[in-house]
Amino acid sequence: QASAADALVFFGATGDLARKQIFPALYGMVAHGELDVPVVGVAFSQWSVDDLRERARSSVTAALPDADPEVLDRLIGLLRYVDGDYRDPATFEALRDALEGRHRPVHYLAIPPALFGTVVQGLASVDLDRDARVVVEKPFGRDLASARELDAVVRSAFPEESIFRIDHFLGKEEIMNLLYFRFANSFLEPVWNRDHVASVQITIAEDFGVQGRGPFYESAGALRDVIENHVFQIVALLAMEPPAYQGYFAVHQAKANVFRAMRPLTRHDIVRGQFEGFREEPGVSPTSDTETYVAARLFIDSWRWAGVPWYLRTGKKMPTTAHEVVVEFKKPPQPLFDDAMMAQRPNHLRFRLQPDGEIALGARIKTPGEEFVGEQRELTVPTAGAQARRPYERLLGDALQGDRALFTTEDSVEAAWTVVDRVLTDHAPAIRYQPGTWGPAEADTLIGADGPWYEPKGRKA
Ligand code: BG6
Repeated sequence: QASAADALVFFGATGDLARKQIFPALYGMVAHGELDVPVVGVAFSQWSVDDLRERARSSVTAALPDADPEVLDRLIGLLRYVDGDYRDPATFEALRDALEGRHRPVHYLAIPPALFGTVVQGLASVDLDRDARVVVEKPFGRDLASARELDAVVRSAFPEESIFRIDHFLGKEEIMNLLYFRFANSFLEPVWNRDHVASVQITIAEDFGVQGRGPFYESAGALRDVIENHVFQIVALLAMEPPAYQGYFAVHQAKANVFRAMRPLTRHDIVRGQFEGFREEPGVSPTSDTETYVAARLFIDSWRWAGVPWYLRTGKKMPTTAHEVVVEFKKPPQPLFDDAMMAQRPNHLRFRLQPDGEIALGARIKTPGEEFVGEQRELTVPTAGAQARRPYERLLGDALQGDRALFTTEDSVEAAWTVVDRVLTDHAPAIRYQPGTWGPAEADTLIGADGPWYEPKGRKA
């Protein structure tokens, strides 16, 4: 049984992620009684604690206009702040002082991976690594080699059981439901394999652009930003074998086996796109080849999935914001009716993950009348609805309690980088696409006869 942390140290507290996601999550934690320990922001921004408090206030009220002022005041009361260069030992001495003897902190590193090493060494220099946990943000490195280096650095101070690697998709209700739906039901397992599944599609579409994150995005691109982590996590939950026993360790192992069985991508398996106008974004090179869209065809070389293509795509400035999975089943072996059924799409199971959760079974239903003709309809169930706790709230709360279930492990991270490592550099130039479209037409060629791509429904009005 892990012990609860006695402080949250928050590196990168003045940054973009903090403003957009973390302060609202901390507010939620206070509101739900999950946070009553000091939160020490650390950054090199020449800020004071009042600046940080002001930022927390504006960030919470922007995200949650109905925030309870009393809860917000309690959050503000927990905030401390240390300003300093991460390379300066004095910064860490000041942090130690700010912790006032608390010795079981969680250090949350919401900072670029290039700074992880310096911060970890700084923490170790003042003994703040001893009974502590560390939460690291994605991306864990920028390729296989740097991920390994990063891991070595973090492990030089923290044992694996104290390292919490965040992928916030794992804190999403609809993603947790993938695991639940697969293994809490019995009807799925007999058909969940290469004998019955023809192909799988996963679409993470966003109708917005890079939202002021030009410099970060320019050096990352869609493959690193979304496919290698968020989308692969979804693949792993859908493709994994049933965990051998109850408990998160078995789930982690079953997922890691999926990453290991993924066939490394080659340049022929991906289509990269860049929306028109990306090069004019602040912080982006006028000759940038960074992809803001990528479509990939992935194979999982296991007995269960051999030969089944997984089509994955993500893009900025798409026609809508929606995250969907469609598992397409094989066609019936023989036509029995005259309604050109065989020319239609076969059955499917659709998981809509965002913005509204839904599970739908696409099936043919007879149209009333003399003829044996029908149409493809969906039997639809809305799922979780509004999430009680935001993903970051859930995950940071788990880290404070020492619950590792919804975090990723080093072997999964390494195996995932191995899959994309080659195409990070060996690829055709990004193809331009118009904002508000589904990306380059070449993605249709990639999916070929397994297509077309299922178009996710738009936002609900
Ligand atoms: C982040 C990516 O990890 O996930 C962003 O860096 C992306 O580019 C975001 O927009 C999507 O997550 P969510 O939870 O906002 O849909």
